[in-house]
This record gives sequence, structure tokens and C-alpha cells, in this order.
Amino acid sequence: MPKQLTERLRTAFAHVSRVAHVPEPVTDLGLRSVYLARIARFVDEHRALDLDVGYDRFRLFDLVIADEGLASSPIDYLEFGTAGGSALRHVLAANTDPGSRFDSFDTFTGLPEAWDGVGVGTFSQGGTPPVVGDPRCSFHVGLFQQTLPGFLRARERDQRLLVHLDADLYTSTLFVLTMLAPRLCAGDVLLLGDFCSLRHPAHVFRAFEDFVASYGFVYTLLATSNHAHQAALRVERPMMNVFARG
Ligand SMILES: C[S@@+](CC[C@H](N)C(=O)[O-])C[C@H]1O[C@@H](n2cnc3c(N)ncnc32)[C@H](O)[C@@H]1O
Repeated sequence: MPKQLTERLRTAFAHVSRVAHVPEPVTDLGLRSVYLARIARFVDEHRALDLDVGYDRFRLFDLVIADEGLASSPIDYLEFGTAGGSALRHVLAANTDPGSRFDSFDTFTGLPEAWDGVGVGTFSQGGTPPVVGDPRCSFHVGLFQQTLPGFLRARERDQRLLVHLDADLYTSTLFVLTMLAPRLCAGDVLLLGDFCSLRHPAHVFRAFEDFVASYGFVYTLLATSNHAHQAALRVERPMMNVFARG
């Protein structure tokens, strides 16, 4: 590139970065405000359905497991974000089928990134999965980004999926949703933790919105708890058929 042109580009970029520089706290505030507004709209749109079961997330899990026929048939439960295992233990007790498989994914050293003021390492279990005493359960220790691709290559899909996304972070949730998209089928059920979160509006809700928009994901909202802080939904169409003609 001619020297004169390089010089001109350098000056132009320096100007843009001076004019367009917005400090991070301001961009963060902007992002959070946008997603708070989107959450408010989402909650408003679903208010008439009267789907909230109250504060207890386990009431939501039990209701959905019963209504969707997931209590006594073989399922594959995938949990992303397990920490001390309270949700995992609850679902293990709720589905007693010997053919069910429970796969838990977590670093067990806590959050890999800060989460709106909540520090890296929060929820750490010192790197050790909880003891659950159930041979149907396996643990995949490490970042989802390291453990999930190999898991999906090794594991055929042969039974209905119940997927619990409870990893708090935008990046972690978006990664899991995009990896699972080709694996999901109509009738599978997703549980979302920290979904319509007023404290962390630009994380799970944002990842879910981006995923829905990008994949043409169609779902039915089944129920929520704690003002949609947790949500359960049934997959109707996991992804647009990109090979369809017309
Ligand atoms: C809120 S805790 C999970 C709580 C748990 N489901 C319960 O019911 O008690 C979130 C967990 O997600 C895990 N996590 C978040 N992003 C992750 C990632 N990319 N890879 C692995 N683990 C991740 C953290 O280590 C943390 O333990």
C-alpha cells in the first residue's frame, strides 16, 4: 500500500477512535438497559398466559416433568452449570427410570468470567463434582467449550432430552445452545436458569434471544417461576431447515 495512503488511513482511524470512544461502564449500562426493556416486553407478551408457579424453581421442574411425561420414561438429562448439585439431585430423584442418563457439565472451579460484578470463580467446588450416589450420572469436568464437542461426537441421540441451562453467562449459554441445535428435536424440554434476570439482563435472556433469531428456533413456553427468573419450554422446531427450497 502506498505510504501516503497508509498515513491517511492511520489519521482517519485515530479520529474515529477519538470520536467514537465510549467508556465501558457507559456501554455496559446501555446494553443492560436494552435487555431490561426486552425482558419487560417478553414478560408482558406472556403475562396473559399466567404461567408463573411462584418463587420455588423446583415446583417448576416438578410440574414440567409431570406434564411432559418425563418422570417415568428414559430421558437424557444434560445439565450445564451444576456447582453443588442441588438441581441435579432434584432431577435425579424426579426421574427414576433405570434407562435415563444424567450428564453434568461444569468446571467445578466456578464461573470462568465475571458476571456483572460477580467474580470469576464464584460457585467453585474446588474442582470436584458433588457426590450424588447414582450410577446413571456422569460428570464432565472442564469448560463446556472443551467437554461438549467430544461428548456430542461420542453420544448418539436415542432418547428424549431434558436440558438444563444454568451457567449464568451469555457466552457459556450461547455456546451450548448453538452446539445442541442440531441435536434437539421437537418435544425436547429446556429449563433456563437466570432467564429474565433483572440483575443480569444481558446474559441468559440475550443468549436465548440471539439463538432464537439465528436458528429460527420455535418453542412453547410451558411455565416459569419467580417472575420468569426460571423458565421451561418445549421445543417445537429446533432449527430452520436451511436446505429447504422456496
Ligand atoms: C449458578 S451455578 C449452577 C447452579 C446449579 N445448577 C444449582 O442448581 O445449584 C453456575 C455454574 O456454571 C458453571 N459454568 C459457567 N460457565 C461455564 C463454562 N463455560 N464451562 C463450564 N462451567 C461453566 C460455573 O462453574 C458454575 O458452577
